[in-house]
Amino acid sequence: MAELVGVYAASHAPLIARDWHRLPDPLKERLSAGYGELGRRLAASKAETIVALTPDHWTNFFLDNLPALCIGIGEEHDGPPEPFMRDFKPIPLPGDASLGRHILETALADGFEPALSYRLRLDHGLCLPLSRLGLASMPRIVPILINSLEPPMLSFRRCLDWGRLLRRAIASHDAPTRVAILATGGLSHSIGEPSMGAIDEAFDRHSIEALRRGEEAPLIELLERDTARAGNGSHEIRNWIVAHAAAGSQGFELVDYLPAPEVYVGSAWAAWRV
Ligand SMILES: [Fe+2]
Repeated sequence: MAELVGVYAASHAPLIARDWHRLPDPLKERLSAGYGELGRRLAASKAETIVALTPDHWTNFFLDNLPALCIGIGEEHDGPPEPFMRDFKPIPLPGDASLGRHILETALADGFEPALSYRLRLDHGLCLPLSRLGLASMPRIVPILINSLEPPMLSFRRCLDWGRLLRRAIASHDAPTRVAILATGGLSHSIGEPSMGAIDEAFDRHSIEALRRGEEAPLIELLERDTARAGNGSHEIRNWIVAHAAAGSQGFELVDYLPAPEVYVGSAWAAWRV
């Protein structure tokens, strides 16, 4: 059977790639340290496949066709279309079709009906963190795109349900695969609104503390009350909530938190107890 060997999360501010050369050195060092530490932990887990929980930034879907969830079940996926990600390699990214299909079949048998794709294009949302982790080789990827951009979206309670289903699906996959989960996105940020660039540090710190303790009721109450007013990008924390439940809701260790107005995002890196 497959084994869940690690659950991680990282933010993915596009300016970390696009404006890297303009950022002050102390900020670059702190950002590099966050991604580097997560990369070391992921490498130490010896994960062969990463189940990637990530938003789609209008790369695969738009308002004419916008699934709440989509699983990539193909053998390969395409890399990011953004010009500022042009240095990212390898492209195409290897998929894990067997695990992707098993997760989809488990979902369909157990109350979820995600969309599916045999070939997704993975934008900066996933590829920016992947490019900064410093992995010696790229694990296979099962991308799971979670609508985090345009309401209505999965409720936070449904995100917990989806995470628990993922945990069951990985544990019941009939292959000796070491599997890690990497959630990307968040924390607070605001894109294309009058508050663009604002970071809600109180929302971030309260969310981190609730995730650290692993207590779901206060976490959900906080998110339902405060996420929308913490900026439209803050909805990406859904990916972290799925990861939280997939890890068994046992709380996480914060690697670092950095409210970084230079890149518009309350940036954080974390590793759950599994
Ligand atoms: Fe994003």
